[in-house]
Amino acid sequence: MDLEISWKNYLWLAVVWLALGFFIFIVLQFKTAPYGRHARTDWGPMISNRLGWIIMESTVLVVLWSWIGPAFSKMSLPARLMALLFTVHYVNRSFIFPLRTRTRKKKMPLVVALMAVIFNLANGSLFGIYFVHFEDYTLDWFRDFKFWFGLLIFLTGIYVNWRADNYLIRLRKPGETGYQIPRGWLFDFVSCPNLLGEMVEWLGFAILSWSLPGWVFFLWTCFNLIPRAVAHHRWYKTHFPEYPEKRKAFLPFVW
Ligand SMILES: NC(=O)c1ccc[n+]([C@@H]2O[C@H](COP(=O)([O-])OP(=O)(O)OC[C@H]3O[C@@H](n4cnc5c(N)ncnc54)[C@H](OP(=O)(O)O)[C@@H]3O)[C@@H](O)[C@H]2O)c1
Repeated sequence: MDLEISWKNYLWLAVVWLALGFFIFIVLQFKTAPYGRHARTDWGPMISNRLGWIIMESTVLVVLWSWIGPAFSKMSLPARLMALLFTVHYVNRSFIFPLRTRTRKKKMPLVVALMAVIFNLANGSLFGIYFVHFEDYTLDWFRDFKFWFGLLIFLTGIYVNWRADNYLIRLRKPGETGYQIPRGWLFDFVSCPNLLGEMVEWLGFAILSWSLPGWVFFLWTCFNLIPRAVAHHRWYKTHFPEYPEKRKAFLPFVW
Protein backbone atom coordinates (compact mmCIF):
# COMPACT_ATOMS: atom_id res chain seq x y z
CA MET A 1 0.00 0.00 0.00
CA ASP A 2 1.31 3.49 -0.72
CA LEU A 3 -0.25 6.86 -0.03
CA GLU A 4 1.37 10.26 0.20
CA ILE A 5 0.63 11.80 3.57
CA SER A 6 2.20 14.81 5.26
CA TRP A 7 3.36 14.72 8.88
CA LYS A 8 0.78 17.41 9.68
CA ASN A 9 -2.09 15.27 8.39
CA TYR A 10 -0.69 12.21 10.13
CA LEU A 11 -0.54 14.15 13.37
CA TRP A 12 -4.17 15.19 12.96
CA LEU A 13 -5.20 11.58 12.33
CA ALA A 14 -3.40 10.49 15.49
CA VAL A 15 -4.98 13.27 17.58
CA VAL A 16 -8.50 12.51 16.33
CA TRP A 17 -7.93 8.79 16.93
CA LEU A 18 -6.70 9.48 20.46
CA ALA A 19 -9.70 11.71 21.20
CA LEU A 20 -11.99 8.89 20.03
CA GLY A 21 -10.12 6.53 22.36
CA PHE A 22 -10.77 8.84 25.29
CA PHE A 23 -14.45 9.02 24.34
CA ILE A 24 -14.60 5.19 24.28
CA PHE A 25 -12.93 5.16 27.71
CA ILE A 26 -15.77 7.32 29.06
CA VAL A 27 -18.41 5.13 27.39
CA LEU A 28 -16.79 2.00 28.87
CA GLN A 29 -17.36 3.41 32.37
CA PHE A 30 -21.07 2.83 31.78
CA LYS A 31 -21.16 -0.08 29.28
CA THR A 32 -18.99 -3.20 29.40
CA ALA A 33 -17.83 -4.62 26.07
CA PRO A 34 -20.05 -7.76 25.76
CA TYR A 35 -17.63 -10.60 25.05
CA GLY A 36 -16.06 -13.31 27.19
CA ARG A 37 -17.71 -13.41 30.63
CA HIS A 38 -19.67 -10.24 29.78
CA ALA A 39 -21.14 -11.64 26.52
CA ARG A 40 -24.78 -10.74 25.80
CA THR A 41 -27.25 -11.96 23.24
CA ASP A 42 -29.11 -8.67 22.71
CA TRP A 43 -26.40 -7.06 20.55
CA GLY A 44 -27.54 -8.59 17.25
CA PRO A 45 -26.16 -11.60 15.37
CA MET A 46 -23.59 -13.73 17.18
CA ILE A 47 -20.51 -15.49 15.85
CA SER A 48 -18.20 -18.13 17.30
CA ASN A 49 -15.95 -16.68 19.99
CA ARG A 50 -12.83 -18.29 18.53
CA LEU A 51 -13.60 -17.10 15.00
CA GLY A 52 -14.34 -13.59 16.33
CA TRP A 53 -10.91 -13.38 17.99
CA ILE A 54 -9.14 -14.60 14.84
CA ILE A 55 -10.98 -12.15 12.58
CA MET A 56 -10.64 -9.10 14.80
CA GLU A 57 -7.01 -9.54 15.79
CA SER A 58 -5.55 -10.79 12.51
CA THR A 59 -6.80 -7.57 10.87
CA VAL A 60 -3.92 -5.67 12.39
CA LEU A 61 -1.38 -8.04 10.86
CA VAL A 62 -2.97 -7.80 7.41
CA VAL A 63 -3.06 -4.01 7.57
CA LEU A 64 0.41 -3.54 9.02
CA TRP A 65 2.05 -5.89 6.54
CA SER A 66 0.13 -4.40 3.60
CA TRP A 67 1.90 -1.16 4.45
CA ILE A 68 5.34 -2.35 5.41
CA GLY A 69 5.66 -5.56 3.35
CA PRO A 70 6.78 -3.85 0.12
CA ALA A 71 8.98 -1.35 2.03
CA PHE A 72 10.45 -3.72 4.60
CA SER A 73 13.91 -4.01 3.05
CA LYS A 74 14.18 -0.19 2.89
CA MET A 75 13.20 0.34 6.53
CA SER A 76 15.90 1.00 9.13
CA LEU A 77 17.05 -1.96 11.21
CA PRO A 78 15.47 -0.64 14.46
CA ALA A 79 12.12 -0.12 12.67
CA ARG A 80 12.27 -3.64 11.24
CA LEU A 81 12.92 -5.04 14.70
CA MET A 82 9.99 -3.04 16.12
CA ALA A 83 7.68 -4.30 13.38
CA LEU A 84 8.74 -7.86 14.22
CA LEU A 85 8.11 -7.41 17.97
CA PHE A 86 4.66 -6.05 17.16
CA THR A 87 4.07 -9.02 14.84
CA VAL A 88 5.11 -11.57 17.47
CA HIS A 89 2.48 -10.16 19.84
CA TYR A 90 -0.23 -10.24 17.20
CA VAL A 91 0.57 -13.72 15.89
CA ASN A 92 -0.05 -14.95 19.42
CA ARG A 93 -3.17 -12.84 19.92
CA SER A 94 -4.70 -13.62 16.49
CA PHE A 95 -4.03 -17.35 16.23
CA ILE A 96 -2.27 -19.02 19.16
CA PHE A 97 -4.40 -17.47 21.94
CA PRO A 98 -7.83 -18.11 20.32
CA LEU A 99 -6.91 -21.62 19.22
CA ARG A 100 -5.84 -22.49 22.76
CA THR A 101 -8.85 -21.04 24.61
CA ARG A 102 -11.40 -23.48 26.00
CA THR A 103 -14.33 -21.67 24.49
CA ARG A 104 -16.44 -24.47 22.99
CA LYS A 105 -19.90 -23.23 21.88
CA LYS A 106 -19.27 -19.72 23.26
CA LYS A 107 -20.24 -16.80 21.08
CA MET A 108 -19.68 -13.04 20.82
CA PRO A 109 -21.81 -10.40 19.08
CA LEU A 110 -20.69 -9.80 15.49
CA VAL A 111 -20.81 -6.06 16.13
CA VAL A 112 -18.12 -6.40 18.83
CA ALA A 113 -15.83 -8.19 16.39
CA LEU A 114 -16.51 -5.48 13.79
CA MET A 115 -15.71 -2.68 16.26
CA ALA A 116 -12.45 -4.42 17.10
CA VAL A 117 -11.70 -4.74 13.38
CA ILE A 118 -12.01 -0.93 13.07
CA PHE A 119 -9.74 -0.48 16.11
CA ASN A 120 -7.16 -2.77 14.53
CA LEU A 121 -7.50 -1.21 11.07
CA ALA A 122 -6.70 2.20 12.56
CA ASN A 123 -3.80 1.01 14.72
CA GLY A 124 -2.28 -1.14 11.98
CA SER A 125 -2.46 1.85 9.62
CA LEU A 126 -0.96 4.29 12.14
CA PHE A 127 2.03 1.99 12.63
CA GLY A 128 2.27 1.07 8.94
CA ILE A 129 2.26 4.69 7.74
CA TYR A 130 4.79 5.63 10.41
CA PHE A 131 7.20 2.84 9.49
CA VAL A 132 6.91 3.51 5.76
CA HIS A 133 6.90 7.32 5.70
CA PHE A 134 8.20 8.84 8.90
CA GLU A 135 10.57 6.62 10.86
CA ASP A 136 14.16 7.85 10.72
CA TYR A 137 15.98 5.60 13.18
CA THR A 138 19.67 4.99 12.67
CA LEU A 139 21.84 2.24 14.16
CA ASP A 140 22.60 4.69 17.00
CA TRP A 141 19.10 3.90 18.30
CA PHE A 142 20.59 0.64 19.62
CA ARG A 143 22.89 2.73 21.82
CA ASP A 144 20.00 4.73 23.25
CA PHE A 145 18.95 3.96 26.83
CA LYS A 146 15.27 4.30 25.81
CA PHE A 147 15.53 1.35 23.43
CA TRP A 148 16.96 -1.09 26.00
CA PHE A 149 14.83 0.17 28.89
CA GLY A 150 11.69 -0.01 26.74
CA LEU A 151 12.64 -3.47 25.48
CA LEU A 152 13.02 -4.71 29.06
CA ILE A 153 9.57 -3.35 29.96
CA PHE A 154 8.07 -4.77 26.75
CA LEU A 155 9.47 -8.25 27.43
CA THR A 156 8.34 -8.12 31.07
CA GLY A 157 4.83 -7.16 29.94
CA ILE A 158 4.61 -9.88 27.30
CA TYR A 159 5.83 -12.47 29.82
CA VAL A 160 3.18 -11.44 32.38
CA ASN A 161 0.46 -11.32 29.71
CA TRP A 162 1.27 -14.72 28.23
CA ARG A 163 1.80 -16.44 31.58
CA ALA A 164 -1.46 -15.06 33.00
CA ASP A 165 -3.47 -15.91 29.84
CA ASN A 166 -1.96 -19.37 29.92
CA TYR A 167 -2.92 -19.86 33.58
CA LEU A 168 -6.51 -18.70 32.95
CA ILE A 169 -6.93 -20.93 29.91
CA ARG A 170 -5.75 -23.93 31.94
CA LEU A 171 -8.25 -23.28 34.74
CA ARG A 172 -10.73 -25.17 32.57
CA LYS A 173 -10.49 -28.80 31.63
CA PRO A 174 -11.15 -29.47 27.92
CA GLY A 175 -14.88 -29.06 27.28
CA GLU A 176 -15.53 -26.91 30.38
CA THR A 177 -16.73 -23.34 30.00
CA GLY A 178 -17.28 -22.17 33.61
CA TYR A 179 -15.20 -19.88 35.82
CA GLN A 180 -13.10 -20.37 38.95
CA ILE A 181 -11.26 -18.00 41.26
CA PRO A 182 -7.68 -17.78 40.00
CA ARG A 183 -5.12 -18.10 42.80
CA GLY A 184 -1.36 -17.74 43.26
CA TRP A 185 1.41 -15.68 41.62
CA LEU A 186 0.18 -12.18 40.56
CA PHE A 187 -3.43 -13.32 40.94
CA ASP A 188 -2.99 -12.95 44.71
CA PHE A 189 -2.60 -9.20 44.12
CA VAL A 190 -4.83 -8.44 41.13
CA SER A 191 -7.77 -9.99 39.30
CA CYS A 192 -6.34 -9.34 35.83
CA PRO A 193 -2.56 -9.73 35.54
CA ASN A 194 -3.03 -10.54 31.84
CA LEU A 195 -4.53 -7.09 31.20
CA LEU A 196 -1.87 -5.44 33.39
CA GLY A 197 0.82 -7.30 31.40
CA GLU A 198 -0.64 -6.07 28.13
CA MET A 199 -0.59 -2.44 29.30
CA VAL A 200 3.02 -2.81 30.54
CA GLU A 201 3.97 -4.39 27.23
CA TRP A 202 2.71 -1.46 25.17
CA LEU A 203 4.23 1.03 27.59
CA GLY A 204 7.53 -0.71 26.85
CA PHE A 205 6.89 -0.52 23.11
CA ALA A 206 6.10 3.21 23.35
CA ILE A 207 9.41 3.77 25.17
CA LEU A 208 11.55 1.57 22.95
CA SER A 209 10.15 3.15 19.78
CA TRP A 210 9.68 6.64 21.30
CA SER A 211 7.17 7.22 18.53
CA LEU A 212 3.78 8.88 18.08
CA PRO A 213 1.96 5.64 17.14
CA GLY A 214 3.67 3.84 20.03
CA TRP A 215 2.33 6.32 22.61
CA VAL A 216 -1.10 6.54 20.97
CA PHE A 217 -1.40 2.75 21.00
CA PHE A 218 -0.33 2.54 24.64
CA LEU A 219 -3.00 5.08 25.65
CA TRP A 220 -5.66 3.33 23.56
CA THR A 221 -4.74 0.03 25.24
CA CYS A 222 -5.26 1.66 28.66
CA PHE A 223 -8.56 3.21 27.49
CA ASN A 224 -9.73 -0.32 26.57
CA LEU A 225 -8.23 -2.40 29.31
CA ILE A 226 -8.61 -0.33 32.49
CA PRO A 227 -12.44 -0.40 32.28
CA ARG A 228 -12.30 -4.10 31.28
CA ALA A 229 -10.12 -4.99 34.28
CA VAL A 230 -12.46 -3.06 36.58
CA ALA A 231 -15.49 -4.87 35.05
CA HIS A 232 -13.80 -8.30 35.42
CA HIS A 233 -12.95 -7.49 39.05
CA ARG A 234 -16.53 -6.40 39.80
CA TRP A 235 -17.81 -9.55 38.06
CA TYR A 236 -15.64 -11.80 40.27
CA LYS A 237 -16.87 -10.05 43.41
CA THR A 238 -20.50 -10.42 42.35
CA HIS A 239 -20.20 -14.09 41.36
CA PHE A 240 -17.93 -15.35 44.17
CA PRO A 241 -18.92 -14.17 47.68
CA GLU A 242 -15.66 -15.69 48.97
CA TYR A 243 -13.55 -13.62 46.51
CA PRO A 244 -10.35 -12.39 48.24
CA GLU A 245 -11.16 -9.02 49.80
CA LYS A 246 -7.74 -7.38 49.39
CA ARG A 247 -7.22 -8.26 45.71
CA LYS A 248 -7.28 -5.22 43.38
CA ALA A 249 -8.45 -5.05 39.74
CA PHE A 250 -5.15 -4.62 37.87
CA LEU A 251 -2.69 -2.44 39.84
CA PRO A 252 -1.37 -4.18 42.97
CA PHE A 253 -2.38 -2.38 46.24
CA VAL A 254 -3.84 0.57 44.33
CA TRP A 255 -6.67 -0.02 41.81
N1 LIG B 1 -4.92 -4.42 23.39
C1 LIG B 1 -6.22 -4.37 23.69
O1 LIG B 1 -6.84 -3.32 23.57
C2 LIG B 1 -6.92 -5.62 24.19
C3 LIG B 1 -8.32 -5.60 24.33
C4 LIG B 1 -8.95 -6.73 24.83
C5 LIG B 1 -8.22 -7.85 25.18
N2 LIG B 1 -6.86 -7.85 25.01
C6 LIG B 1 -6.07 -9.04 25.42
O2 LIG B 1 -6.74 -10.22 25.04
C7 LIG B 1 -6.62 -11.22 26.05
C8 LIG B 1 -8.01 -11.69 26.47
O3 LIG B 1 -8.72 -10.62 27.06
P1 LIG B 1 -10.03 -10.93 27.94
O4 LIG B 1 -10.50 -9.67 28.56
O5 LIG B 1 -10.96 -11.77 27.14
O6 LIG B 1 -9.33 -11.84 29.09
P2 LIG B 1 -9.98 -12.80 30.15
O7 LIG B 1 -11.41 -12.47 30.41
O8 LIG B 1 -9.04 -12.85 31.31
O9 LIG B 1 -9.98 -14.24 29.41
C9 LIG B 1 -8.82 -14.90 28.98
C10 LIG B 1 -9.19 -16.38 28.72
O10 LIG B 1 -9.27 -17.11 29.96
C11 LIG B 1 -10.62 -17.54 30.23
N3 LIG B 1 -10.85 -17.18 31.64
C12 LIG B 1 -10.69 -15.95 32.18
N4 LIG B 1 -10.93 -15.95 33.51
C13 LIG B 1 -11.26 -17.23 33.81
C14 LIG B 1 -11.63 -17.87 35.04
N5 LIG B 1 -11.69 -17.17 36.17
N6 LIG B 1 -11.95 -19.20 35.03
C15 LIG B 1 -11.88 -19.90 33.85
N7 LIG B 1 -11.51 -19.34 32.66
C16 LIG B 1 -11.21 -18.02 32.63
C17 LIG B 1 -11.50 -16.75 29.28
O11 LIG B 1 -12.69 -17.45 28.96
P3 LIG B 1 -14.02 -16.66 28.44
O12 LIG B 1 -13.62 -16.00 27.13
O13 LIG B 1 -15.01 -17.76 28.27
O14 LIG B 1 -14.40 -15.64 29.48
C18 LIG B 1 -10.57 -16.59 28.08
O15 LIG B 1 -10.53 -17.78 27.32
C19 LIG B 1 -5.82 -10.60 27.20
O16 LIG B 1 -4.48 -11.02 27.12
C20 LIG B 1 -5.93 -9.10 26.94
O17 LIG B 1 -4.79 -8.43 27.41
C21 LIG B 1 -6.22 -6.75 24.53
